[in-house]
Amino acid sequence: MSHHLTTQIAANGVATLTLNNAERHNAFDDHLIAGLIAALEELNAATNVRVVVLAAAGKSFSAGADLGWMKRMASYSEAENLADAKLLARLMHTLNTLGKPVVAAVQGPAYGGGVGLVACCDMVFAAPEALFALTEVKLGLIPAVISPYVISKIGASHARRYFVSAERFDAATAQRIGLVHEIVPRDEVLTMAHSWAAQLLNNGPESMASAKRLVAEVANRPICEDLNHHCASRIAVQRVSAEGQEGLTAFLEKRPASWIKH
Ligand code: COA
Repeated sequence: MSHHLTTQIAANGVATLTLNNAERHNAFDDHLIAGLIAALEELNAATNVRVVVLAAAGKSFSAGADLGWMKRMASYSEAENLADAKLLARLMHTLNTLGKPVVAAVQGPAYGGGVGLVACCDMVFAAPEALFALTEVKLGLIPAVISPYVISKIGASHARRYFVSAERFDAATAQRIGLVHEIVPRDEVLTMAHSWAAQLLNNGPESMASAKRLVAEVANRPICEDLNHHCASRIAVQRVSAEGQEGLTAFLEKRPASWIKH
């Protein structure tokens, strides 16, 4: 694994993945992206991990793509550039569709691809110091690979503004447009993320993964017979599943469900 990344797995099943290159504001190049993909795939497969907290060390959460790496790519062919860009696309997809909830602790600024990472998390806690900007057009670039994830979080209207203005916006604005869920003092962000991660351990692990997929399946789809059928079939399957039956039985028997550790 990249030495700019640390993973810690606590006994309660909460894993913390920390971006750990404070001197470079946690900017990510191809090595760090590959390391992040590998770490996320490992956490996804690990049976002792139920929730992931994404955190960062230092002043910034992430300064996004490493601009030295972006510049170097000019000497590569179009095919090589495409393969390289697809690696970042794979990271965003892996994080966005992780089969476990991801809670982000955003202790400082996030720029460009850093905003993309935040957009791929399920619950986002940010410090008042956490400024955000999609700075790509200032650099003659575009926020291409991250755009599906950012647009799906903040909507096309806000994306139109912040993609072209490249302006910084504060945590309160990020909360208003849906990128951030809660603002908490900087020295409490990680504790708050862990406290929520611990609360998520009370929910059915398969149900949370399934609920997360449900949002992706239903968001932005026209409400029609097909969608209603799809949603009805999702609950029909879930309620007779082992986890669904255990959750319902535990409630009716007034006891904790089997997935809750004491
Ligand atoms: N890629 C590569 N290196 C980066 C980087 C990035 N995205 N962001 C910061 N760094 C490097 C700086 O080049 C500098 O390196 P140096 O010490 O060798 O000169 C080091 O990190 C410290 O950055 P510095 O700019 O001196 O710190 P700062 O506190 O004044 O500002 C930022 C921090 C993050 C606000 C500023 O570096 C910045 O705007 N970075 C670009 C962020 C961005 O637009 N990302 C989107 C990419 S698509």
